[in-house]
Amino acid sequence: MKITEALFAEHLVFHNMFDHIETMAPALKTVAEVKSLAALMEALLKYHSDTEDELFIGPLEHCFEQIGQRDAFLEEHEEIDSSLKEVQEARQLEKARQLLLSAVSYSRKHFDKEERIVFPMAERVLKGKTLTALGQTWMEQRARVVV
Ligand SMILES: [Fe+2]
Ligand SMILES: [Fe+2]
Repeated sequence: MKITEALFAEHLVFHNMFDHIETMAPALKTVAEVKSLAALMEALLKYHSDTEDELFIGPLEHCFEQIGQRDAFLEEHEEIDSSLKEVQEARQLEKARQLLLSAVSYSRKHFDKEERIVFPMAERVLKGKTLTALGQTWMEQRARVVV
């Protein structure tokens, strides 16, 4: 499997999770519930973003630089992570809910950008063999991850 296909498949799971969080959020009644959803999202996203940082940024660095997106790509991962950590600091239900929903909406935009720009760029620039080798690394890393 190519790395782009693997990451795209992970995106589909996240899109479902984002839908689920957006549907559930208005009905949450305690800060603790909001925080536990944010913690789940943070933990699952971490593996995904770390993989992208490790496997993509290296081989595609020159392309990201050409389109002026190298720092943006890394910063967006950090931004998502820190906005989810902020949820853990919230004391009021409404504030926590609003932070969680804005992290979800920011993540959606980031994912959309990867699907429209980053993944197709990887498919254009990298050789099929490289994409498959990166996909194999992804598979081995996932096999070791215990969530
Ligand atoms: Fe990403
Ligand atoms: Fe992604």
